[in-house]
This record gives sequence, structure tokens and C-alpha cells, in this order.
Amino acid sequence: MPKKRMVKPSPRFTPVVERQSNPFENIRNRYFHVKILFYLAICLRYPIDNYDQERGKLQKYFAIDAAFCPECFLPKSNMCVALESRFEFELGDLVEVVNTLIGVKKVHYGKLKGVEGKAVVKHAARERVLEQIKAEIGEVNSPAELDGRLYKLFLKRDRVGFYFCRQSTLNMFVKGLTNYTRSRIETWMHLLVNAETILLPVMNKFSVMAVPTYYGHCGFTIYESYNGITLAEVNKRKISYYQRLQIALRLLFATSALTDGFDNYRVYLTDLTLDNVVYDEKTGNVTFIDLDSVVIVDGDYNRTAATMVEEPPDRWWAIHKYEKIPCKGCFAYTKHDLCSHYQSDINMFSVCQLLNEDLYGDQTKGFLKPIPRFIDITFPALRSKLLQCVRCQDILCDNRFYISIQLAQEIARIIKYFES
Ligand SMILES: Nc1ncnc2c1ncn2[C@@H]1O[C@H](COP(=O)(O)OP(=O)(O)OP(=O)(O)O)[C@@H](O)[C@H]1O
Ligand SMILES: [Mg+2]
Repeated sequence: MPKKRMVKPSPRFTPVVERQSNPFENIRNRYFHVKILFYLAICLRYPIDNYDQERGKLQKYFAIDAAFCPECFLPKSNMCVALESRFEFELGDLVEVVNTLIGVKKVHYGKLKGVEGKAVVKHAARERVLEQIKAEIGEVNSPAELDGRLYKLFLKRDRVGFYFCRQSTLNMFVKGLTNYTRSRIETWMHLLVNAETILLPVMNKFSVMAVPTYYGHCGFTIYESYNGITLAEVNKRKISYYQRLQIALRLLFATSALTDGFDNYRVYLTDLTLDNVVYDEKTGNVTFIDLDSVVIVDGDYNRTAATMVEEPPDRWWAIHKYEKIPCKGCFAYTKHDLCSHYQSDINMFSVCQLLNEDLYGDQTKGFLKPIPRFIDITFPALRSKLLQCVRCQDILCDNRFYISIQLAQEIARIIKYFES
């Protein structure tokens, strides 16, 4: 019996009842007073801080990472100094300031000299995690021994973050990623600590849609494009239903492209929440910003070394239809299901779910809920297709991708109606 993976929701995933019109309701927002306190603290503190102090943080992150794995990062310290010096910090809005202070990852906002638009810097390595990895590796005497230990550690660890499905082609995958690092050891470390740092450059190379642009990394700190505000934030604002539909449509297209993955590797996001998708108000684009909780399935059985013959599992060519595993306020899946099919509709499920309901199944709290009454009456298929895309019961939904296309068509029809 395959083991169930339980993924805790992001701590900030707090679906908010839409469009509160009473100002006192807003004030009751759970985090309002905390945010104000943080903001005041920052406003008072900020003039004392200066750029050097902010830059000092980047240097401190690098020092932590280089002490953890000198052979990975020390030889590149000059490149890091150059990258750090190009980053100009900006004091972001309230949400950004709070993110910088309380996020799991340390996120800083600003601009990278020579690059258009805003950039973000994310440092993902928590010292506790690094210490744990160090303890698990133990004493090693040579880089080859370290490489072997990391390989074993990667296979052994039951992590919530990154998972690669096929052991027989894992080395080949790691070799491909090593084009973007200094060594296999560094590649392993990224996969163990925060896979985004190393997946993003390769996804950029293969022009995967709807992911940030990679600018570089120093240790476990990644520099990437800023792609807007989170959908969780958008959800709290008073935006028109027309705008919600536009975002939903982009999201459905982006999800389908993401599932196609790159170079015959499928990409499944296992933490696809409103907090991990951002929306750019200027361009209307949506971007998946958290590429750490990912399952990658090698979809190419011809990739195996010539000396090995490996047959795909029995049901390989059948699309895996994700079925919701009961899990209050969280998202559960079985790795085995994803790994044993050339394609899964799990990303599409996650997106339909966030459009239709929250992680507790409350159908009043989806991104497209509540549906305005006149839309509900004129276009009843919107509600029914949303629900089918989430539940996808055999009798009505043979193929979730097909339903998602029907849903996208219905949304496009309503958008057209608004525009006419
Ligand atoms: N490329 C980006 N563009 C805009 N904002 C971003 C970007 N990357 C991160 N952010 C902001 O930083 C926050 C935290 O980033 P991220 O989701 O990568 O880490 P985390 O939430 O701390 O980790 P996790 O989601 O794995 O628990 C996001 O919710 C978002 O507000
Ligand atoms: Mg996140």
C-alpha cells in the first residue's frame, strides 16, 4: 500500500471571505493589527537601517551556506559578490514587508542592475535543516564519498519538498542540472534544501511558461524576477468579477503548460495554493513562484542507459485521475500514483480546487466564488464545470483535462459577454 504524503498548507494560506463591504469587518481581519504593528516597527526601524545593513544580510546568508558546504560555494564567492552588489533593495508595500519578516524563506524585494523590472531575492536554507542534513551525512573523506552519501540521502529522505520519480534515471537528471552548478555535490545540496534554485534555470532554458525568470544564485539564495502579488492578496481586494475570470483563464492555460513540463519531464506542484501563485496587474500574467514542493516524473522510458531495458509500469499510458484524499485544511497525494503514469491531472485538480473552494472543501471560498447571481443564472455551466473539475466523478468526468477545457471555454464566453 503506497504511503500517503500529507502536505501542510502554507502558513499564510488563509482564504478570506470575499469583498467585505463593512469597514468594521475589515478591521476584524485576523492579521490586521499584527500587520499594522509590523509596519510601524518597520517604518521606525527603516531610516536607521541602510543599504549596507541590507546587503550584510545577503552576505550573512552566503556565509551560512558556504560554511555548510565550502566545496559547493566558496569557489564562486567572487561571482556572488558581483551579484550581491547589483541588487538594490527597495522597501516594498506592507505585504512585502511582512513577508520579509515572517516568511519561511527570507524574501527581499528590489531591482537588479542591468535587468528591467523588479526582482526578488529568496534565501531558503534554514540553519536547522542544514544541521540536520550535515548530521545525516556524517564524516566523509572525499568528494566521491560525499556524492555517494548525498545520493543515498536523497533516496532515503521522506521529504515534503522535491521528489524525483525514477531511480534509474535520477543520475542522468542530476547530471543535466549540474550544467547550472559547479558540481554534482552542489546540485544534490540544492535538491535537498530548496529545489527551486536549480529547477528554475533549467525550466527557463526550456521556456516553461508561467515561472519566474532566473537571474542567478549564490549559495542557497536565488535571484529571480518579481512577478506580482499573490492570489491570496488579490482575493482580499475588491476586484471585479470580470478580472477574476481573466485571472482564472490565465491560470488554467498556465497549468496545462506546466503539466507538459520540459524535455519530457512532467512537473507537478504539490503546494499549489493562492499563496504560491502571483499575478501581475500590468500584464495580467500569472506565475507559479514556489517550485520547491515539486514531483518530477521522467516521462521518457527510452532515456534509460542503453545497457538497461526498463519497461514502464502497467497503467503507464493511462492518464492518472487524481482523487481527493480526505485531509482537512491540507493537500494529500500518493507519490506512487504520480510516478506510475506518464501524465497526471493533479495540477489541474489543484487549480480547479482553488477556483472553487478552500482546502476544507468550503465552496463559498473559491477564487471564483461567490458567483454573481446574474452570471450564475445566465451561465450555469460555470458552477457545474468548476465542481466537475474538482470532484471529477467517473459518470460525468472521464477526463479532467477535457472538463478544464470546457471550463476555460465557459469562462471565455462570460468574459466576451462582459466585453460586448
Ligand atoms: N517571483 C516572485 N514574485 C513575486 N513575489 C514573490 C516571488 N517569489 C516569492 N514571492 C513572495 O514571497 C513569498 C514567499 O515565497 P515562497 O512561496 O517561495 O516561499 P515560502 O512561502 O516562504 O515557502 P513555502 O511556500 O515553501 O512555504 C510569496 O508568498 C510571495 O509573496
Ligand atoms: Mg509560498
